[in-house]
Amino acid sequence: MKTKLIAPSVLSADFGNLQRDIEMINGSQADWFHVDVMDGRFVPNISFGFPVMKAIQEHAKKFVDVHLMIVEPEKYVEEFINYGADLVSVHYEACTHLHRTINLIQDKGAKAGVVLNPSTPVWVLEDIITEVDLVLLMSVNPGFGGQKFIENTYKKIRETKELILENNSTALIEIDGGVNTENAPKLFEAGADVLVAGNAVFASENPERTIELLKV
Ligand code: DX5
Ligand code: ZN
Repeated sequence: MKTKLIAPSVLSADFGNLQRDIEMINGSQADWFHVDVMDGRFVPNISFGFPVMKAIQEHAKKFVDVHLMIVEPEKYVEEFINYGADLVSVHYEACTHLHRTINLIQDKGAKAGVVLNPSTPVWVLEDIITEVDLVLLMSVNPGFGGQKFIENTYKKIRETKELILENNSTALIEIDGGVNTENAPKLFEAGADVLVAGNAVFASENPERTIELLKV
């Protein structure tokens, strides 16, 4: 997988015009679709589930990155992969048996990511870093789009990069929350490989142009 990737978050799309917004991403310089699944238990919000995932599968022509903000994610991993997920990320905080869940995702044929909330330190990944394909660092508290970026994320990117290099891991680093055209270059510079952007893309006057600007 190449780096400096942009993953627009479907959560910020217009669900009344979902196909139109998916086509916009297809035709843009975006690399991935970021799909936020929330259950109202792990996070204080409910987003969407399989029917929307099915619509994404039907229309999306790029890599599909599914971010599960749900309790007991292991119960649903296989179904999301059947609905076209190329990568499934699960929260460290939601997995009692993280190693088993990561292996399950990979056994079912998808890439596996682990997500850390802003308050979870990077060192908890020490014994899983060689197994995962991606580390997703939350730069807001998960649950909602359009929140303010947490500056401590830069430190966590540097720590994650160090951990990856020390262990010869091939994991990519993805950042999610409050990403915009101002902080994007700094995040790539600090060591991020993939940036998720919801509000910055969909609330802008020209989403395709914003995606282009995020990549520079
Ligand atoms: C937050 C989600 C994010 C969200 C990002 O819980 O995981 O993916 O959609 O939205 P912005 O870019 O608006 O912060
Ligand atoms: Zn997300």
